[in-house]
Amino acid sequence: MHAEEQHVGRLQGKVALITGAASGIGSACALRFAEEGALVAGIDVSEEGDERWKKACELAPKSWFAVADVRDGARIAEVVGEVCSHLGGVDVLVNSAGTAGGGAVHDVAPEEFDRVIGINLTGTFLPCHHVLPVMLEQGSGNIINIASIEGLQGAEGGSAYNASKGGVVLLTRCMAMDYARKGIRVNAICPGFIETPMFDAVWGMEGLEELKDRVRNAHQLGRFGKPEEIANAAVFLACEESSFITGHALPVDGGFTAGQRFGFAKMMGLE
Ligand SMILES: NC(=O)c1ccc[n+]([C@@H]2O[C@H](COP(=O)([O-])OP(=O)(O)OC[C@H]3O[C@@H](n4cnc5c(N)ncnc54)[C@H](O)[C@@H]3O)[C@@H](O)[C@H]2O)c1
Repeated sequence: MHAEEQHVGRLQGKVALITGAASGIGSACALRFAEEGALVAGIDVSEEGDERWKKACELAPKSWFAVADVRDGARIAEVVGEVCSHLGGVDVLVNSAGTAGGGAVHDVAPEEFDRVIGINLTGTFLPCHHVLPVMLEQGSGNIINIASIEGLQGAEGGSAYNASKGGVVLLTRCMAMDYARKGIRVNAICPGFIETPMFDAVWGMEGLEELKDRVRNAHQLGRFGKPEEIANAAVFLACEESSFITGHALPVDGGFTAGQRFGFAKMMGLE
């Protein structure tokens, strides 16, 4: 390649609106998208983005950040309007804002159940609800919902979280069907356990060390994931390389959902 040839990113000139952009998987998506030439707009309840978000802003100087709660439809509508007038539209929407929470159902306060569903499920619906008219008008668009492996299968004590993420997976499939003929693709990513501040909040609790080892081991690759590994999948789903993929819930989970591990691989000398 000649020195004067410029790298053209896989998302060159695309406008990506990312919820939960201040941290973890959301900020990793912002950074990877900016590295691929996208203009990024972030939404978060946090007033300040982490180091990845700041780096994304350096790479994409027109980046836009709005403090907003994904449960507040009026505020989301306002932010979508601002993004359209400043950046010219929305090509990609990534819904990454989320919260942990659950427990055995008899122990979960109804308000807590509503909070988790409100952020994870309604908080995915509302940005879609306000961005889809823009995408319909454009005749193109791409939505990526960050669900979870816990939206594909049950987990002990999962309740509210699993119900919310299972809802996100089916919302994704319904939207993929409704908007496919309008040039809009909709997919979900189902991460395994990923080292982010949310992960640290759960696994930093005392007395969970042994359980944490077991959960790590349930990932066939024998480790937890990194936010960049989810962001790389999001780049793939956002760009033309995945042009025939819609309505898919993609596990990015180090093999967590591949099956159960009983020790036969070890017996065969594969560990
Ligand atoms: N980390 C994991 O192991 C893991 C696994 C599977 C799925 N996920 C999902 O990935 C997504 C991102 O999680 P993460 O691990 O990066 O966590 P994180 O806590 O690092 O990031 C979540 C972000 O969402 C923001 N947020 C929370 N509530 C909000 C609201 N009401 N409105 C706007 N923003 C809000 C937070 O301020 C934070 O910046 C979540 O949907 C989570 O459920 C995470």
